[in-house]
Amino acid sequence: AKNVGILALDIYFPPTCVLQEALEAHDGASKGKYTIGLGQDCMGFCTEVEDVISMSLTVVSSLLEKYGIDPKQIGRLEVGSETVIDKSKSIKTFLMQLFETSGNTDIEGVDSTNACYGGTAALFNCVNWVESNSWDGRYGLVVCTDSAVYAEGPARPTGGAAAIAMLIGPDAPIAFESKYRGSHMAHAYDFYKPNLASEYPVVDGKLSQTCYLMAVDACYKHFCQKYEKFEGKQFSVADADYFVFHSPYNKLVQKSFARLLFNDFLRNASSIDEASKEKLAPFANLSGDESYQSRDLEKASQQVAKPLYDAKVQPTTLIPKQVGNTYTASLYTAFASLLHNKNSSLGGQRAVLFSYGSGLTSTLFSVKFNDGNHPFSLSNISVAMSIDNRLKSRLEFAPEKFVETMHLMEKRYGGKDFETSKDCSLLAPGTYYLTGVDSMYRRFYSKK
Ligand code: ACO
Repeated sequence: AKNVGILALDIYFPPTCVLQEALEAHDGASKGKYTIGLGQDCMGFCTEVEDVISMSLTVVSSLLEKYGIDPKQIGRLEVGSETVIDKSKSIKTFLMQLFETSGNTDIEGVDSTNACYGGTAALFNCVNWVESNSWDGRYGLVVCTDSAVYAEGPARPTGGAAAIAMLIGPDAPIAFESKYRGSHMAHAYDFYKPNLASEYPVVDGKLSQTCYLMAVDACYKHFCQKYEKFEGKQFSVADADYFVFHSPYNKLVQKSFARLLFNDFLRNASSIDEASKEKLAPFANLSGDESYQSRDLEKASQQVAKPLYDAKVQPTTLIPKQVGNTYTASLYTAFASLLHNKNSSLGGQRAVLFSYGSGLTSTLFSVKFNDGNHPFSLSNISVAMSIDNRLKSRLEFAPEKFVETMHLMEKRYGGKDFETSKDCSLLAPGTYYLTGVDSMYRRFYSKK
């Protein structure tokens, strides 16, 4: 199989959200902390009728419908998620409800979990499958689904919720350059979920920021080495048109991209002109550790990066800023933003993607775009996602109502024997929603 990659992509996020500006005031944070400090505009969240299973049912059925895919044509289904609803039964098995009715139960794959990285693991599994000897000629389907919620405190405004579905196959308009993947995996306690009775993570915010930036550096180094080995020339930021990041909050994306340019400076790469060299020269001899602590370096490199950030990163930031950190879906909501903003102009271009999951696992990889053939074309993917409409038709909850919803969800988490309000008035037609959980913890869903 040639040009294996993403043929089609669809996205779902809840219609309920809270404005960061309002949340800031409600939390007693200083004005601008969430909007400028973190760089976030709005945060999506699930109410009691939605969860990671309903969101993934919605996005998979929507993708199959929009692209006219017969459920029998799916040969592999992989899910990435870090929202634990069951310690044994995979989310993938819930999704089988959409395939059993067509008589197709011959579908490989289960769930992948490691913080925000599970979606990338699932995606690589599907791409590798299509590229392998075990491929049976059918499509792969990848689903990333998460509801990111934090306890009250500084991490709470970095939540979000969404599900993404990606159809994988050959001759794709978004083709993987699988040779160049660079990974960095290590043991860290930066963000983890040891308390099985709570949906909330334990998080060392500052450590997680440093771990993320160290992972950016290490992955970029490995990626460049592999590129240089295969291509016989140096790789720099100038060799890709777009950079797409896992986006816990926008400020970290700004810092990460600046970090790539600092790496290019240290490697004496072509993306760095004389003026930039001068600005970064004072930091040339910092040790690794010092470089993560230096506020002056952060400022200087962000300044150097600004024009390139506007051209190569800004078009990827729409949904992450509007919906928030969506964990496994986050990188792919950024990628969806790029497809939405640039659609067919992407033909012939390259994007580099960075995936990070605390704990920690990370990979930097690249894709090449081509126009594709209808319905699997860049322009059709962009139209089918209908992102403007989805963003416009959301309902902003007051912060008090958001907090009330969080309290109800805390009580419900891990619970049994309850029915939800079944109120689906805010949901678009075709959306799945949770109706109840019985005395055996079995979950029931309906479709609006
Ligand atoms: N106006 C403008 N900027 C402000 C204001 C203000 N009024 N107040 C603060 N800021 C800036 C700060 O200077 C800082 O920016 P800087 O990093 O450029 O210096 C930024 O806003 C954040 O302020 P902090 O005081 O650093 O915020 P705090 O420590 O309270 O929380 C954190 C931030 C650690 C990111 C927290 O939200 C968190 O723990 N989030 C979850 C962990 C996370 O997302 N980690 C990222 C990778 S791992 C993952 O994906 C889960």
